[in-house]
Amino acid sequence: MSIHRFPADFLWGAATAAYQIEGAWDEDGKGESIWDRFCRAPGNIADGDTGDVACDHYHRYMQDVALMRQLGLRAYRFSISWPRVLPDGRGPVNEAGLGFYSRLVDGLLADGIQPFVTLHHWDLPQALQEQGGWARRETCLAFADFAALMVNRLGDRVRCWTTFNEPRVIMLNGHLLGSHPPGIRDVETADLVGHHLLLAHGLAVQAMRSAAAGLQLGIVLNQSGTHPAGDSAAEAAAAERAWQEDETFFLDPVFKARYPAAISDRTERIASSIRDGDLALISQPLDLLGLNFYSRHLIGAQGQVVLPPAGEFTEMGWEVHPPALRQLLNRMHADYPLPPIYITENGAAFQDAVAPDGRVHDERRSEYLRQHLVQLRLAMQDGVDVRGYFVWSLLDNFEWTFGYSKRFGIVRVDYPTQVRTIKDSGHWYSRVIAANAVEEG
Ligand code: FCB
Repeated sequence: MSIHRFPADFLWGAATAAYQIEGAWDEDGKGESIWDRFCRAPGNIADGDTGDVACDHYHRYMQDVALMRQLGLRAYRFSISWPRVLPDGRGPVNEAGLGFYSRLVDGLLADGIQPFVTLHHWDLPQALQEQGGWARRETCLAFADFAALMVNRLGDRVRCWTTFNEPRVIMLNGHLLGSHPPGIRDVETADLVGHHLLLAHGLAVQAMRSAAAGLQLGIVLNQSGTHPAGDSAAEAAAAERAWQEDETFFLDPVFKARYPAAISDRTERIASSIRDGDLALISQPLDLLGLNFYSRHLIGAQGQVVLPPAGEFTEMGWEVHPPALRQLLNRMHADYPLPPIYITENGAAFQDAVAPDGRVHDERRSEYLRQHLVQLRLAMQDGVDVRGYFVWSLLDNFEWTFGYSKRFGIVRVDYPTQVRTIKDSGHWYSRVIAANAVEEG
């Protein structure tokens, strides 16, 4: 059995997002977000669940910080609810809402846990949606103002900031498939939104840099990597096409200041909204890149995503294929001039049960994490600069349209009582952190 040791300063963490854990959806002056609104419409969320209470983290954050300390986390990735801080998206600051994040940051630092902030994890203020949301260019300016405000207030204590979590999901699920708010189904709107998210990222980076020096700034992208479903040349070509068409929309503008040639028909349709200077703004140098990775995409000869005939799958129906993480990191490293990478999400939903001994024996989750960490370490040895890793998620939480039916946490949450129990995977992870190493198995 071999042991994979990590560099001494490797940043071990866990991640969450505001809407998925905070609850307190209308407390202390918080404004409504598009998720608050979307969850109220019947049929949108499994079992009619909402994030109204979620993990009640807004009230229990100190208990959650204590759990993080118990786990030995070195860093905690969380997001800011924009409408909690700016109820209308812009204008007067809700000091009570901002104070929550300030206290959370202080609590983390007091326990030696580095805060790693995501400015936007999907919960756009409903007030901005009513003015056109991400389809409107002005929303980008509002986002940059929000970013500057947060840096002005927390930048003395928070060093690492990312603008967006998975802009591709906002673009596709929110505006092409309509499965997430605002529930739009329109190709051209989706592409326009994609451009505006990129522009908002660029404007926010610029605003944060002028607000404070010495920050580490980046964006969090979700990539799967595309793999041919079989050995034929047609499948290989289709997988490469799928990469070019589906996985480079954000990477190319941010790191190469251009849109991928493979989607020129789509970008031509929105050409009048891509102004001179936009791509220069979008492609400013970054200090870090966040990568969220869960599963690979297998592509058939017609370009369709296919499920492998055999293999292991999580509760989400996602295939477990850890070597794809190493391949993806190597591909991104070869194709783009990247800053240091942090794996900002990686984890698995499984149906956990509380055993008669009161514990949660979720060895499949530990195994998923372990195998991905081995592949991550191998990618680092291949030459990819990875500086940290965040498990998704610290807590079981509100899994968007799946409501509370999917559990990703290394800590179990019993929703009716809000009791937290560290799962076996959490105990395992804390041993990995303490050893700064993972075993091959
Ligand atoms: C990612 C999201 C995160 C969580 C995981 C399972 O796409 O960023 O909020 O829902 O998937």
